Amino acid sequence: MIRSLFGKILTSHIVVLVLLTASIGISLSHLVTNYLVEAKKAELIRVGISTTRFLNAVTQDQLYSPSLLENLSDFSGTTMWIIDQENHTRSGKAPKIWQHHMQVQNDPAENLFNGEVTSRLYSANDDDDPAIVVSIPFPQNPSIVLMIHTPITGIAKTSAAIEQLLLYTILGSILLAGIFAFILSRNLTKPISNISHAAEKFTAGNYKSRTTAIGQDEIGRLGFTFNEMAAALERIEQERQEFFSDITHELKTPLATIQAVTESLLDGVVTEKTKQACYLKTTLDECHQMNSLISELLNLARIESGQMHFQYQNLNLGEFIEKQKGKFQPMSAEKNQQLIFSVSPKLVFVKTDPLRIEQILSNLISNALRHSPDGNKIFIQFERDKTSFILSVTDSGEGIPQKDLPYLWDRFYRVDKARSRNKGGTGLGLAITKKLVEGMHGNISVSSIPNEKTIFKVIFPKTF
Ligand SMILES: Nc1ncnc2c1ncn2[C@@H]1O[C@H](COP(=O)(O)OP(=O)(O)OP(=O)(O)O)[C@@H](O)[C@H]1O
Ligand SMILES: [Mg+2]
Repeated sequence: MIRSLFGKILTSHIVVLVLLTASIGISLSHLVTNYLVEAKKAELIRVGISTTRFLNAVTQDQLYSPSLLENLSDFSGTTMWIIDQENHTRSGKAPKIWQHHMQVQNDPAENLFNGEVTSRLYSANDDDDPAIVVSIPFPQNPSIVLMIHTPITGIAKTSAAIEQLLLYTILGSILLAGIFAFILSRNLTKPISNISHAAEKFTAGNYKSRTTAIGQDEIGRLGFTFNEMAAALERIEQERQEFFSDITHELKTPLATIQAVTESLLDGVVTEKTKQACYLKTTLDECHQMNSLISELLNLARIESGQMHFQYQNLNLGEFIEKQKGKFQPMSAEKNQQLIFSVSPKLVFVKTDPLRIEQILSNLISNALRHSPDGNKIFIQFERDKTSFILSVTDSGEGIPQKDLPYLWDRFYRVDKARSRNKGGTGLGLAITKKLVEGMHGNISVSSIPNEKTIFKVIFPKTF
């Protein structure tokens, strides 16, 4: 079996070509031979009919004199003889092929005496060339028939020459087609091999592997799609590696603190009760930090795997705001900060997923509280317009430098790593928030002027 695509294309080209050329050649050769044979028969019949007309006019003696038919035979370039119903030669001399035929074939002489013109084609045997024999009845003497024989060696030679020519043509065209098919199949299979090699390298772990077989045809487009797919997979792999190194780092930091604090407590270095309590509180804080990191990671994983389902219902904004005030009261009171909620007139109910809205708002408010100085005011607004429901959180805290704004939504991105971490942040809040907003078909944006104003704005399509 041919295994390679190249071999298959090449073979199928050659097979189709051979079949086509051979069938055309054989049919053509038959056609030409038949035409020549039929033309020869017609000529013999014409000569025979003229001869019988002539012989009708001669006397019996002249008819049966050997010289007359001999002369007529020489004149027409054929062999002529006359037979009777018993197949006796009455004049002239029958050629060997006829005698042989009469002996071997079951073709009685009476077949020639039904008043019709007949013709027979004899293929060559050991001694004789192929020949045509025609019989012409005498209109005024039904007891005898004029036989005319002529070899058709010329026609057979012509057919053989045609067949030979065809054979050379077939061989020549096979050679040419072979070269052509070779080039064509190479051109077709080369880019496929290129894509296949690139894919093999990619599978072996070379995520930079790309194909150069890109173009406008189907294979070129396949190559292009492969490259796009490879680039996407490379990106995913890179993100996966970064994600793991980030997680490892994030878990190692609190663990290192816990380890150090526990060791110093066990060593008995710290004996003072108040100091011990302080050390234990640090350990507890780090445990909280790890706990919230893990639950946020789970949250993110659930959203990214598409397992997060949204349950939309009518949310009473008044009640919702009261709940949020109560929830953030302890945190804001700590730094004497104020949360100022406002709702557009006539906006009472919003059709949304209350749990997710709360999650989104919680992260934005806790960020604002965390990154604003003592006594600061934080504004939370719920608005509507013709097409959307808008939620915004504005603070006048430290703000975010312009260069950091595009990366805020990345996992573990924190503007000031150390400070944010000290403030209890894991750097996952905004990544989760963005995914939640997008899951609800909304859009989140941020604008900030450091030490002046930071606004997070969430726009949901109108569902109320
Ligand atoms: N209102 C804000 N003012 C100033 N900086 C902010 C504000 N909101 C977010 N940031 C910056 O963006 C970073 C990412 O915020 P994000 O909510 O994703 O993480 P986090 O608050 O550090 O941790 P987490 O929310 O997971 O507990 C923060 O670390 C902080 O540097
Ligand atoms: Mg946050």
